[in-house]
Amino acid sequence: MVNEFEIKKQICDIGKRIYNRNMVAANDGNISVKLSDNEFLCTPTGVSKGFMTPEYICKVDAKGNVIQANPGFRPSSEIKMHMRVYEKRPDVGAVVHAHPTFATSFAIAGIPLTQPIMPEAVIALGCVPIAEYGTPSTMEIPDAVEKYLPYYDAVLLENHGALTWSVDLLAAYMKMESVEFYAELLYKSKMLGGPKEFDKEQIAKLYEIRRKMGLPGKHPANLCLNKNGMNCHNCGGSCHSQEEGTTSNAADAELVASITRQVMAQLGLK
Ligand code: 13P
Repeated sequence: MVNEFEIKKQICDIGKRIYNRNMVAANDGNISVKLSDNEFLCTPTGVSKGFMTPEYICKVDAKGNVIQANPGFRPSSEIKMHMRVYEKRPDVGAVVHAHPTFATSFAIAGIPLTQPIMPEAVIALGCVPIAEYGTPSTMEIPDAVEKYLPYYDAVLLENHGALTWSVDLLAAYMKMESVEFYAELLYKSKMLGGPKEFDKEQIAKLYEIRRKMGLPGKHPANLCLNKNGMNCHNCGGSCHSQEEGTTSNAADAELVASITRQVMAQLGLK
């Protein structure tokens, strides 16, 4: 049974973290958590995410309609963007939107995070594409993000910020940290003359580590991105290894990840 109050406190903690780490300014950013197929908690619109207490948090249904909100609070203006992620990715338990400075600078410059430059970024994220610009609070943003949802766990929002999602709130927040750290390293290495990228063999080894770890989510190690019109590392996602007959590795990794999640949930570790 989900302890709703505990989750509200977690949302406030993550709000403080994104505010204190300069991932949002003023009242920017929003956070949501799935409680059940038709109940979601989300941050209210127009408040600083660094100063929230549990009574700020609103509850909405799968369409983003208010189920419960205390007087003076309305759900985030970007709730439709969050709901589209949950609709298209039933494996997702939480969504985080922020404006971290390096990642947002890449989003403004129109440069996706696709260069394979350090092991953790390749293993944890794969690539971070840019969803085409949409006016905040309208359906333009969910519509722009949708095509990336089957293939990625993070996107940059053109001229706007970043959006990450994962199995639970901590994991979705960690994705945001990873995106920002990757963007910062990419920016700084460009200042130093340009990053030295991994070659195909190095990338293939990192994909293999990812498969062995059985990490949840969508990643080029388990998907044939280029065949689906998505552009990631130059090695072409896992198409190459699938052609060599390792499709079952990807399926095995998904299965191991799903069993691991169930065991951790039963042990109360999720
Ligand atoms: P809300 O305060 O409505 O969640 O909006 C903040 C934001 O960052 C919009 O992109």
